[in-house]
Amino acid sequence: MKDLLKEIQNCKKCGLYKTRIMPTIYCGNIKSKIMFIGEAPGKNEDETGVPFCGRAGKILDELLNYINFKREDVHITNIVKCRPPKNRDPKESEIKKCGCFLEKQIKLVNPKIICPLGRFSSKYILKKYFKKSFEIGEVHGKVFKVNNIVIIPMYHPAAAIYDNKKIDVLKKDFKKIINNL
Ligand code: URA
Repeated sequence: MKDLLKEIQNCKKCGLYKTRIMPTIYCGNIKSKIMFIGEAPGKNEDETGVPFCGRAGKILDELLNYINFKREDVHITNIVKCRPPKNRDPKESEIKKCGCFLEKQIKLVNPKIICPLGRFSSKYILKKYFKKSFEIGEVHGKVFKVNNIVIIPMYHPAAAIYDNKKIDVLKKDFKKIINNL
């Protein structure tokens, strides 16, 4: 993991390194059975290097708590490691370039369950394993099994900030993690 951290810290493959403060790589356990993959760092993450440390992070903590987990028990990362300016969506080219780090990270952590959070990481992960595009609205909470890995795409926790019905959907989907551990 040390080598990977260095590689990401020195990365200049896309332009995001020019505007970010620091890369946000992961938090939690590097040998966890459960890996959550968000989208990209926001302002708080950029200042601290800690993924999901703002409002969406509070919701993620609530969801983890709901299934009796703490951050230290799981591995939390993002598909893009540097903050896109003004929190714009990550570009396809940025996702593609940063994806090689995520690939290495998945190999190092070797999780049993991968939960992509939101449309960008769900699309990336399902495409990687199934070579097919899916809409998050259709696949959230579904359990996919491939190469001994369980993939459970989820809505992004930030979705519950703007739509309070989403928290119940997320809770229901998080229960699937327990059922597949
Ligand atoms: N914070 C993150 O680290 N990732 C997201 O996708 C959103 C907020």
